[in-house]
Amino acid sequence: MKTLETICSRKSIRSYTGEGITQDELKQILTAANASPVGMGRYDEMHLTIVTNPELLRKIDQAGAAMFGKPDIHPLYGAPVLILVSTKTPANKKENVAYSNAAIIAHNMALEATELGIGVCHIWGAVAAVAASPDIIKELNLPEDFIPCCGIVLGQTDYKYEPRDIPADRIEKNIIE
Ligand SMILES: Cc1cc2nc3c(=O)[nH]c(=O)nc-3n(C[C@H](O)[C@H](O)[C@H](O)COP(=O)(O)O)c2cc1C
Repeated sequence: MKTLETICSRKSIRSYTGEGITQDELKQILTAANASPVGMGRYDEMHLTIVTNPELLRKIDQAGAAMFGKPDIHPLYGAPVLILVSTKTPANKKENVAYSNAAIIAHNMALEATELGIGVCHIWGAVAAVAASPDIIKELNLPEDFIPCCGIVLGQTDYKYEPRDIPADRIEKNIIE
């Protein structure tokens, strides 16, 4: 796929067959993460956690559902892989670079997953629940002072990506000449 074709084909996949991804596919998705731009080149302030442990995925799914106040939902959609993007806790709450870094890394991975035909969805809600759960944080074995900001779920899907018609005015704009 060409870049714009991949971008227009990506959509949030919320239905998974339960089948995982190959090591080779994971490697390519992680290459996309590592190729991401990061503010001031501070790659050492970012961290990736690949979670495939079914018990931990279940706990995160449940924590997300509890946070939404809807115990019956599955905010990880039964996907077999979750990649969390964590950052060193910003010294100043107004500091937005760390969170932006995390989002860009997550999206680079999402685009590569799309290119590979793998189901992918950005996950912020359940990750906020993870960040608020000291028990789950402990199980993630993160470097000291790091917090998970966002993540993607991944897995095989029956959905076949194809370029979507994207409304040109979905995001309002103004032009200053
Ligand atoms: C910052 C961010 C957070 C998101 N969080 C979630 C989430 O927690 N759960 C979810 O199912 N989708 C999440 N999404 C997906 C959006 O709902 C989705 O991208 C948007 O509705 C547009 O649909 P599309 O991705 O199919 O084009 C998130 C997307 C972004 C960019």
